[in-house]
Amino acid sequence: MKITTKTALVTGANKGIGKAIAIKLLEQGIRVIGTSTNKYGVQTINKYLKKNGFGFILDLKDTNSITEKIKEIYKHKYSIDILVNNAGVKLDKLLVHMNNTEWEDIIKINLTSIFYTSKAVIRSMIKKKEGRIITINSIIGYTGNKGQINYSTAKSGLIGFHKSLALEVASKGITVNMVAPGLIQTDFIKNLNIFQYKKYLSNIPMKRLGKAEEIADAVIFLSSKKASYITGQTLHINGGMYM
Ligand SMILES: NC(=O)c1ccc[n+]([C@@H]2O[C@H](COP(=O)([O-])OP(=O)(O)OC[C@H]3O[C@@H](n4cnc5c(N)ncnc54)[C@H](OP(=O)(O)O)[C@@H]3O)[C@@H](O)[C@H]2O)c1
Repeated sequence: MKITTKTALVTGANKGIGKAIAIKLLEQGIRVIGTSTNKYGVQTINKYLKKNGFGFILDLKDTNSITEKIKEIYKHKYSIDILVNNAGVKLDKLLVHMNNTEWEDIIKINLTSIFYTSKAVIRSMIKKKEGRIITINSIIGYTGNKGQINYSTAKSGLIGFHKSLALEVASKGITVNMVAPGLIQTDFIKNLNIFQYKKYLSNIPMKRLGKAEEIADAVIFLSSKKASYITGQTLHINGGMYM
Protein backbone atom coordinates (compact mmCIF):
# COMPACT_ATOMS: atom_id res chain seq x y z
CA MET A 1 0.00 0.00 0.00
CA LYS A 2 1.32 3.45 -0.96
CA ILE A 3 0.97 6.08 1.77
CA THR A 4 0.12 9.49 0.31
CA THR A 5 0.98 12.75 1.96
CA LYS A 6 -2.47 12.94 3.55
CA THR A 7 -2.89 12.46 7.29
CA ALA A 8 -6.05 11.71 9.25
CA LEU A 9 -6.63 12.06 12.98
CA VAL A 10 -9.20 9.54 14.24
CA THR A 11 -10.32 9.69 17.87
CA GLY A 12 -11.20 6.37 19.51
CA ALA A 13 -9.32 4.34 16.90
CA ASN A 14 -8.56 1.30 19.06
CA LYS A 15 -11.89 -0.47 18.54
CA GLY A 16 -15.39 -0.39 17.12
CA ILE A 17 -16.32 2.18 14.50
CA GLY A 18 -13.10 4.21 14.94
CA LYS A 19 -10.89 1.19 14.24
CA ALA A 20 -12.92 0.32 11.13
CA ILE A 21 -12.56 3.92 9.91
CA ALA A 22 -8.82 3.99 10.57
CA ILE A 23 -8.25 0.70 8.73
CA LYS A 24 -10.25 1.86 5.71
CA LEU A 25 -8.40 5.20 5.63
CA LEU A 26 -5.16 3.25 5.67
CA GLU A 27 -6.39 1.17 2.73
CA GLN A 28 -6.85 4.47 0.86
CA GLY A 29 -3.18 5.23 1.45
CA ILE A 30 -3.92 7.82 4.12
CA ARG A 31 -1.61 8.00 7.15
CA VAL A 32 -3.58 7.64 10.39
CA ILE A 33 -2.96 9.10 13.81
CA GLY A 34 -5.33 7.37 16.20
CA THR A 35 -6.26 7.92 19.84
CA SER A 36 -7.26 5.77 22.78
CA THR A 37 -7.71 6.57 26.46
CA ASN A 38 -5.10 4.01 27.51
CA LYS A 39 -1.78 2.38 26.60
CA TYR A 40 -3.38 -0.95 25.60
CA GLY A 41 -5.55 0.85 23.07
CA VAL A 42 -2.47 2.66 21.75
CA GLN A 43 -0.69 -0.70 21.37
CA THR A 44 -3.66 -2.04 19.37
CA ILE A 45 -3.58 1.02 17.09
CA ASN A 46 0.19 0.82 16.53
CA LYS A 47 -0.11 -2.88 15.73
CA TYR A 48 -2.59 -2.48 12.88
CA LEU A 49 -1.09 0.77 11.59
CA LYS A 50 2.26 -0.96 11.04
CA LYS A 51 4.21 2.34 11.08
CA ASN A 52 1.76 4.07 8.69
CA GLY A 53 0.96 6.49 11.49
CA PHE A 54 0.84 6.09 15.25
CA GLY A 55 -1.43 5.96 18.29
CA PHE A 56 -1.41 8.23 21.31
CA ILE A 57 -3.32 8.61 24.55
CA LEU A 58 -6.07 11.22 24.59
CA ASP A 59 -8.84 11.57 27.14
CA LEU A 60 -11.50 13.86 25.70
CA LYS A 61 -12.92 14.41 29.19
CA ASP A 62 -9.74 16.33 29.96
CA THR A 63 -10.65 19.13 27.57
CA ASN A 64 -7.67 21.26 28.67
CA SER A 65 -5.22 18.66 27.33
CA ILE A 66 -6.71 18.35 23.83
CA THR A 67 -5.13 21.45 22.25
CA GLU A 68 -1.65 20.64 23.61
CA LYS A 69 -1.79 17.01 22.48
CA ILE A 70 -2.85 17.94 18.96
CA LYS A 71 -0.16 20.67 18.81
CA GLU A 72 2.38 17.91 19.48
CA ILE A 73 1.30 16.21 16.24
CA TYR A 74 2.06 19.37 14.26
CA LYS A 75 5.43 19.67 16.04
CA HIS A 76 6.26 16.24 14.59
CA LYS A 77 5.68 17.79 11.13
CA TYR A 78 2.38 16.05 10.51
CA SER A 79 -0.45 18.23 9.37
CA ILE A 80 -3.99 16.93 9.71
CA ASP A 81 -5.99 16.87 6.47
CA ILE A 82 -8.90 14.80 7.78
CA LEU A 83 -10.28 15.03 11.31
CA VAL A 84 -12.60 12.19 12.29
CA ASN A 85 -14.31 12.91 15.61
CA ASN A 86 -15.38 9.37 16.34
CA ALA A 87 -14.86 8.73 20.08
CA GLY A 88 -18.00 8.83 22.16
CA VAL A 89 -19.61 7.39 25.28
CA LYS A 90 -23.02 6.98 26.83
CA LEU A 91 -24.14 6.74 30.41
CA ASP A 92 -27.86 6.06 30.41
CA LYS A 93 -30.15 7.16 33.24
CA LEU A 94 -33.49 8.87 33.58
CA LEU A 95 -33.18 12.57 34.39
CA VAL A 96 -34.49 12.00 37.92
CA HIS A 97 -31.56 9.69 38.68
CA MET A 98 -28.81 11.51 36.78
CA ASN A 99 -26.22 13.40 38.82
CA ASN A 100 -24.24 16.49 37.72
CA THR A 101 -21.09 14.54 36.88
CA GLU A 102 -22.99 12.08 34.70
CA TRP A 103 -24.43 15.01 32.78
CA GLU A 104 -21.20 17.02 32.53
CA ASP A 105 -18.89 14.15 31.56
CA ILE A 106 -21.09 13.03 28.68
CA ILE A 107 -21.44 16.60 27.40
CA LYS A 108 -17.66 17.10 27.65
CA ILE A 109 -16.67 13.90 25.85
CA ASN A 110 -19.33 13.94 23.11
CA LEU A 111 -19.75 17.67 22.48
CA THR A 112 -17.28 20.08 24.14
CA SER A 113 -14.26 18.05 22.98
CA ILE A 114 -15.28 18.61 19.35
CA PHE A 115 -14.82 22.37 19.82
CA TYR A 116 -11.22 21.72 20.93
CA THR A 117 -10.30 19.10 18.29
CA SER A 118 -11.79 21.16 15.46
CA LYS A 119 -10.19 24.38 16.65
CA ALA A 120 -6.81 22.66 16.87
CA VAL A 121 -6.86 21.66 13.18
CA ILE A 122 -8.87 24.39 11.48
CA ARG A 123 -6.18 27.08 11.04
CA SER A 124 -3.84 24.75 9.19
CA MET A 125 -6.72 23.51 7.01
CA ILE A 126 -7.63 27.13 6.19
CA LYS A 127 -4.00 27.83 5.25
CA LYS A 128 -3.95 24.79 2.96
CA LYS A 129 -7.41 25.67 1.59
CA GLU A 130 -8.33 22.04 2.03
CA GLY A 131 -9.67 19.81 4.78
CA ARG A 132 -12.33 17.44 5.97
CA ILE A 133 -14.02 17.33 9.35
CA ILE A 134 -16.27 14.33 9.87
CA THR A 135 -17.98 13.58 13.16
CA ILE A 136 -19.84 10.48 14.26
CA ASN A 137 -23.20 11.62 15.57
CA SER A 138 -26.05 9.22 16.43
CA ILE A 139 -29.66 8.56 15.53
CA ILE A 140 -30.34 9.60 19.15
CA GLY A 141 -29.16 13.15 18.38
CA TYR A 142 -32.07 13.42 15.94
CA THR A 143 -34.80 11.45 17.71
CA GLY A 144 -34.01 11.81 21.42
CA ASN A 145 -34.44 8.80 23.70
CA LYS A 146 -35.78 8.01 27.14
CA GLY A 147 -32.88 7.55 29.55
CA GLN A 148 -30.37 9.28 27.26
CA ILE A 149 -30.88 12.98 28.03
CA ASN A 150 -27.16 13.65 28.43
CA TYR A 151 -26.13 11.70 25.30
CA SER A 152 -28.91 13.00 23.05
CA THR A 153 -28.28 16.60 24.18
CA ALA A 154 -24.60 16.27 23.34
CA LYS A 155 -25.26 14.62 19.99
CA SER A 156 -27.93 17.10 18.94
CA GLY A 157 -25.64 19.95 20.00
CA LEU A 158 -23.26 18.68 17.35
CA ILE A 159 -25.80 19.53 14.65
CA GLY A 160 -25.61 23.28 15.31
CA PHE A 161 -21.84 23.13 15.67
CA HIS A 162 -21.31 21.39 12.34
CA LYS A 163 -23.77 23.49 10.37
CA SER A 164 -22.21 26.71 11.71
CA LEU A 165 -18.64 25.56 11.15
CA ALA A 166 -19.56 24.33 7.66
CA LEU A 167 -20.75 27.86 6.86
CA GLU A 168 -17.66 29.49 8.36
CA VAL A 169 -15.20 27.46 6.27
CA ALA A 170 -17.20 26.62 3.13
CA SER A 171 -15.22 29.09 1.00
CA LYS A 172 -11.89 27.70 2.24
CA GLY A 173 -12.12 24.27 0.63
CA ILE A 174 -13.04 22.60 3.91
CA THR A 175 -16.11 20.39 4.30
CA VAL A 176 -17.77 19.64 7.64
CA ASN A 177 -20.18 16.73 7.84
CA MET A 178 -21.57 14.08 10.16
CA VAL A 179 -22.46 10.43 9.95
CA ALA A 180 -25.30 9.33 12.23
CA PRO A 181 -25.38 5.59 12.91
CA GLY A 182 -28.37 3.66 14.17
CA LEU A 183 -27.60 0.48 16.10
CA ILE A 184 -24.13 -0.82 15.23
CA GLN A 185 -22.55 -4.05 16.47
CA THR A 186 -19.74 -2.77 18.75
CA ASP A 187 -18.93 -2.73 22.47
CA PHE A 188 -21.02 0.43 22.66
CA ILE A 189 -24.21 -1.64 22.78
CA LYS A 190 -22.88 -4.68 24.64
CA ASN A 191 -24.78 -3.77 27.81
CA LEU A 192 -28.21 -3.91 26.18
CA ASN A 193 -30.26 -6.69 27.75
CA ILE A 194 -32.14 -9.17 25.55
CA PHE A 195 -35.44 -7.27 25.95
CA GLN A 196 -33.90 -3.93 24.95
CA TYR A 197 -32.09 -5.64 22.08
CA LYS A 198 -35.29 -7.26 20.74
CA LYS A 199 -37.20 -4.01 21.12
CA TYR A 200 -34.60 -2.04 19.16
CA LEU A 201 -34.35 -4.76 16.52
CA SER A 202 -38.10 -4.72 15.99
CA ASN A 203 -37.75 -1.02 15.08
CA ILE A 204 -35.13 -1.61 12.39
CA PRO A 205 -36.82 -2.19 9.00
CA MET A 206 -33.76 -4.11 7.74
CA LYS A 207 -34.06 -6.42 10.78
CA ARG A 208 -30.35 -6.44 11.58
CA LEU A 209 -27.72 -4.38 13.31
CA GLY A 210 -25.27 -2.35 11.26
CA LYS A 211 -21.58 -3.17 10.96
CA ALA A 212 -18.76 -0.79 11.92
CA GLU A 213 -17.47 -1.12 8.34
CA GLU A 214 -20.78 0.20 6.98
CA ILE A 215 -20.23 3.41 8.95
CA ALA A 216 -16.57 3.53 7.96
CA ASP A 217 -17.48 3.34 4.25
CA ALA A 218 -19.54 6.53 4.60
CA VAL A 219 -16.65 8.29 6.32
CA ILE A 220 -14.32 7.25 3.52
CA PHE A 221 -16.77 8.67 0.98
CA LEU A 222 -17.10 11.98 2.85
CA SER A 223 -13.32 12.23 3.18
CA SER A 224 -12.79 11.65 -0.55
CA LYS A 225 -12.72 14.04 -3.52
CA LYS A 226 -16.05 12.54 -4.61
CA ALA A 227 -17.72 14.34 -1.70
CA SER A 228 -16.12 17.72 -2.36
CA TYR A 229 -19.48 19.56 -2.84
CA ILE A 230 -21.12 18.08 0.29
CA THR A 231 -20.99 20.16 3.47
CA GLY A 232 -23.10 20.78 6.56
CA GLN A 233 -24.85 17.44 6.06
CA THR A 234 -25.64 14.35 8.08
CA LEU A 235 -25.53 10.97 6.43
CA HIS A 236 -27.95 8.68 8.32
CA ILE A 237 -27.02 5.00 8.35
CA ASN A 238 -29.53 2.99 10.32
CA GLY A 239 -31.20 0.26 8.26
CA GLY A 240 -34.25 2.46 7.79
CA MET A 241 -34.83 3.08 11.51
CA TYR A 242 -34.97 6.87 11.05
CA MET A 243 -35.64 8.73 7.80
N1 LIG B 1 -22.42 1.43 18.21
C1 LIG B 1 -23.55 2.09 18.07
O1 LIG B 1 -24.65 1.50 18.07
C2 LIG B 1 -23.53 3.58 17.86
C3 LIG B 1 -24.72 4.19 17.47
C4 LIG B 1 -24.76 5.55 17.27
C5 LIG B 1 -23.61 6.30 17.43
N2 LIG B 1 -22.46 5.70 17.81
C6 LIG B 1 -21.29 6.56 17.97
O2 LIG B 1 -20.19 6.00 17.30
C7 LIG B 1 -18.98 6.42 17.92
C8 LIG B 1 -18.08 5.22 18.14
O3 LIG B 1 -18.76 4.28 18.95
P1 LIG B 1 -18.48 2.71 18.91
O4 LIG B 1 -19.76 2.05 18.64
O5 LIG B 1 -17.30 2.41 18.09
O6 LIG B 1 -18.15 2.49 20.47
P2 LIG B 1 -17.01 1.71 21.23
O7 LIG B 1 -16.65 0.46 20.53
O8 LIG B 1 -17.46 1.67 22.64
O9 LIG B 1 -15.74 2.71 21.12
C9 LIG B 1 -15.76 3.95 21.77
C10 LIG B 1 -14.45 4.66 21.49
O10 LIG B 1 -14.48 5.93 22.15
C11 LIG B 1 -13.28 6.08 22.92
N3 LIG B 1 -13.53 6.86 24.12
C12 LIG B 1 -14.39 6.58 25.13
N4 LIG B 1 -14.26 7.52 26.10
C13 LIG B 1 -13.33 8.39 25.68
C14 LIG B 1 -12.74 9.56 26.26
N5 LIG B 1 -13.09 10.03 27.46
N6 LIG B 1 -11.79 10.19 25.56
C15 LIG B 1 -11.38 9.73 24.35
N7 LIG B 1 -11.87 8.62 23.77
C16 LIG B 1 -12.83 7.98 24.43
C17 LIG B 1 -12.89 4.66 23.31
O11 LIG B 1 -11.51 4.62 23.62
P3 LIG B 1 -10.95 3.62 24.76
O12 LIG B 1 -11.46 2.24 24.43
O13 LIG B 1 -9.48 3.77 24.64
O14 LIG B 1 -11.49 4.13 26.06
C18 LIG B 1 -13.24 3.89 22.04
O15 LIG B 1 -12.20 3.94 21.13
C19 LIG B 1 -19.40 7.16 19.19
O16 LIG B 1 -19.33 8.54 18.98
C20 LIG B 1 -20.84 6.74 19.40
O17 LIG B 1 -21.59 7.74 20.06
C21 LIG B 1 -22.39 4.36 18.03
